[in-house]
Amino acid sequence: MNLTRICLLATIAVLLALNLSPTAAAQSETATPVAGKLTIYADREKQTISRNIYGHFAEHLGRCIYEGLWVGENSSIPNTRGIRNDVVAALKQIKIPVLRWPGGCFADEYHWKDGIGPRERRPAMINTHWGGVIENNHFGTHEFLDLCEQLGCEPYICGNVGSGTVREMQEWVEYITFDGASPLSNFRRQNGHEQPWKLKFFGVGNENWGCGGHMRPEYYADQYRRYATYVRNFGGNQVFKIACGPSGANYLWTEVLMREAGTQMAGLALHYYCGTGKKSRSATEFDEGDWFHQLRSALKMEELVSKHAEIMDRFDPKKRVALVVDEWGAWHAVEPGTNPRFLYQQNTLRDALVAALTLNIFNQHCDRVRMANIAQTINVLQAMILTDGAKMIRTPTYHVFDLYQVHQDATLLPLDLQAADYQFGAEKILGLQASASRDKAGKIHLSICNLNPNASTELACQLQGAKVSAISGRILTAASITAHNTFDQPEKIKPAEFTAVKTADGGFQATLPAKSVVMLELH
Ligand code: AHR
Repeated sequence: MNLTRICLLATIAVLLALNLSPTAAAQSETATPVAGKLTIYADREKQTISRNIYGHFAEHLGRCIYEGLWVGENSSIPNTRGIRNDVVAALKQIKIPVLRWPGGCFADEYHWKDGIGPRERRPAMINTHWGGVIENNHFGTHEFLDLCEQLGCEPYICGNVGSGTVREMQEWVEYITFDGASPLSNFRRQNGHEQPWKLKFFGVGNENWGCGGHMRPEYYADQYRRYATYVRNFGGNQVFKIACGPSGANYLWTEVLMREAGTQMAGLALHYYCGTGKKSRSATEFDEGDWFHQLRSALKMEELVSKHAEIMDRFDPKKRVALVVDEWGAWHAVEPGTNPRFLYQQNTLRDALVAALTLNIFNQHCDRVRMANIAQTINVLQAMILTDGAKMIRTPTYHVFDLYQVHQDATLLPLDLQAADYQFGAEKILGLQASASRDKAGKIHLSICNLNPNASTELACQLQGAKVSAISGRILTAASITAHNTFDQPEKIKPAEFTAVKTADGGFQATLPAKSVVMLELH
């Protein structure tokens, strides 16, 4: 009997022992499964997982705003006051909680007064960061806040420190939120919005260590203090002020900001992009080495969040200041034939794994990470949605946000996971990665990723402090690591029912297929 046959028989024996259905068997691999052990501590509830961890980011970059969100009132694409109906409906389905705008690097050269009033009279500008294209300012403050109302999400506006004035920032907040009569609030009324909007989240600059002014942390800390002073609370509106934080592992930036300005901020923003493959930068054409490299880079978020949180703990032991990871995701080469500065990239099962494991990390650190915004919502970087004229597709990353929405505002449950390593050549990472929570209705959800593209895992789970009487699940996986949706095949990869799970004494047993994201619901 050859080795393949022995492995096949071993797999069948395991499946029979677990009494799994034929669908479950189809979702699992024929390579020898590895074993995993998990304990969920349902009796040791921790902090709330803020819904804002599932936040998004939309910049005036490429086709994110124009075409992606905004098509204009006269478009043949169905819209409400110029905003695409299909996109709004899709984003509402994943309960988008908060949307960051207008950038990114664009924010530090955006002058908000150019984006209000009659559209035909708004001055144009050059979008110097993103391809030197002409920005007509047709999507401005009113349109953004209308979009947030249509989505039912919180707006998060990023102000201009790099090339804007303190007065300009002060007046923007006054224009949006002042309820009395003032020149600015009257101007808002004149432009058609009688009532003030509520604006909770406001960023004081973006990447001021780079495109936002190339500042030193000491200089930016002082600038932050100055600008933030004039970001006022009007009426009942309380602004949650977010300072520009570090790039990746720049721990010095966090140290200086927390020391010099920590008491004056509500959040500190971290940016980390986990790059792409090692040999190939293509979003869709890569091998297992690129898969491994990308997932290992994404797992680095664990170290970054832990180390920045450790520094913040020294200055803020009560964890008042939130770590806001307001730009994160994979960054591949643009799709062939598209403008290199438009950052339009495809999205595969690999991106789904990047999203799933990163969201698990944020959940696990929800005591400090209280907002995160994946970059970006539509047609740019690790997008939820891609559009082509009137056509729209959901990416594998969208489906992860769909599966994970059950964690929004749920209570984190600690867990202990023992899994076999996923070895690639001389290197290895842990094969499984997970987080668990209990929602307001008492249901427990476990999101678990199998990073290994070759072997399924037989997982034995113990639930401490609760009983499982029923269990159901959804899975996102595909036959190949490069699987993705296209405008011709929009549903090639989407979630399916997961049946390879059954209750067992004190918990459950499951077969987690190779290269998969599974969401289990226990009640
Ligand atoms: O998301 C694309 C760009 O990446 C943003 O504009 C900038 O903040 C970051 O460098």
